[in-house]
Amino acid sequence: MSRNKDIVILGIESSCDDTSAAVIKNQLMLSNEVAGQSVHRAFGGVVPELASRAHQQNIIPVVDQAIKKAGILLEDIDAVAFTCGPGLLGSLLVGTSFAKAFSLARNIPLIEVNHLQGHVLAHFIHENILDHKEPVFPFLCLLVSGGNSQIILVRDYLDMEVIGQTIDDAAGEAFDKCAKVMGLPYPGGPLIDKLAKEGNPKAFTFSKPRIPGLDYSFSGLKTSFLYLLRDEIAKNPDFIDLNKADLCASLQYTIIEILLIKLRLAAEQTGIKEIAVAGGVSANSGLRAALHHEASRFGWRMYVPPFKFTTDNAAMIAITGYYKYLKGDFASLDAVPYSRVSIK
Ligand code: KG4
Repeated sequence: MSRNKDIVILGIESSCDDTSAAVIKNQLMLSNEVAGQSVHRAFGGVVPELASRAHQQNIIPVVDQAIKKAGILLEDIDAVAFTCGPGLLGSLLVGTSFAKAFSLARNIPLIEVNHLQGHVLAHFIHENILDHKEPVFPFLCLLVSGGNSQIILVRDYLDMEVIGQTIDDAAGEAFDKCAKVMGLPYPGGPLIDKLAKEGNPKAFTFSKPRIPGLDYSFSGLKTSFLYLLRDEIAKNPDFIDLNKADLCASLQYTIIEILLIKLRLAAEQTGIKEIAVAGGVSANSGLRAALHHEASRFGWRMYVPPFKFTTDNAAMIAITGYYKYLKGDFASLDAVPYSRVSIK
């Protein structure tokens, strides 16, 4: 594939409850539109059927807006990249169907993108030409989101290996489920982050997993949190209200500790000092501070993405599509989405 010509990629993301479209010219982001779905708030979590319906309503306006904001013409788009999984199947189907129709109508290549690979490659999105700092290969990426907690060894743009992952819940799930038992709305992660700032991280101690190797587990922490609340509420029904900030700070502290123990081990075992973080939970201010602290302790070079690239967005799908375009890695029109699919 010639690299003399600018390559313009339209990216489509619809794996969960955000409908997003983005345009990238080479590595430079021209637009990145995201339509969230407030419809789920009342249910304390994402309702798959409602998410698919909202994607259907949002997809065309969001793509239209992304193309207009990018200041390009339809003819300028060289390929359309879409999230093929993992995610909610009904949600993925909306983006997949749209991308296929777009590829067929414009007679341009269709590119399948793994959502997790997208989160990692978000580090390579340039927001302006002059100022961009990106990880050097090989690097380790701690990918922490609502559905995943993984340590990924990234050898090249499209050469990634999961060297550690959760055997049960994800870190984001631990934040969200513990928030729910405290009566906080979904998603609980950002609220715990906010409340934790006022609390004492050592006020309560929770069990930490003893899992061998680089894998994670968060289900024991969730149970330990639940039992503490059950026992304390039996003594004082106002326990949660009286201790909310301390509960949030202690829970967040424990989640961060669990994440860091394995990340340190991975850095030690691989000898890699280029460390990146990605996914929704990487927006957490406590985790960011702890990672910077670890970086100065161990001489890591730390890469933390801008907030807008931590949660689901189509710019990360478009940038992954760009690297796949360079390799001529195109999908056929019978491509189907997958609810579960690993990076490799
Ligand atoms: O990457 P993401 O947008 O969606 C998935 O692909 O899963 O991640 C969403 C997750 C949710 O669990 C949410 O609670 C968590 O990221 N999250 C946070 C914060 N912001 C989002 N967790 C902790 N602290 C935050 N500031």
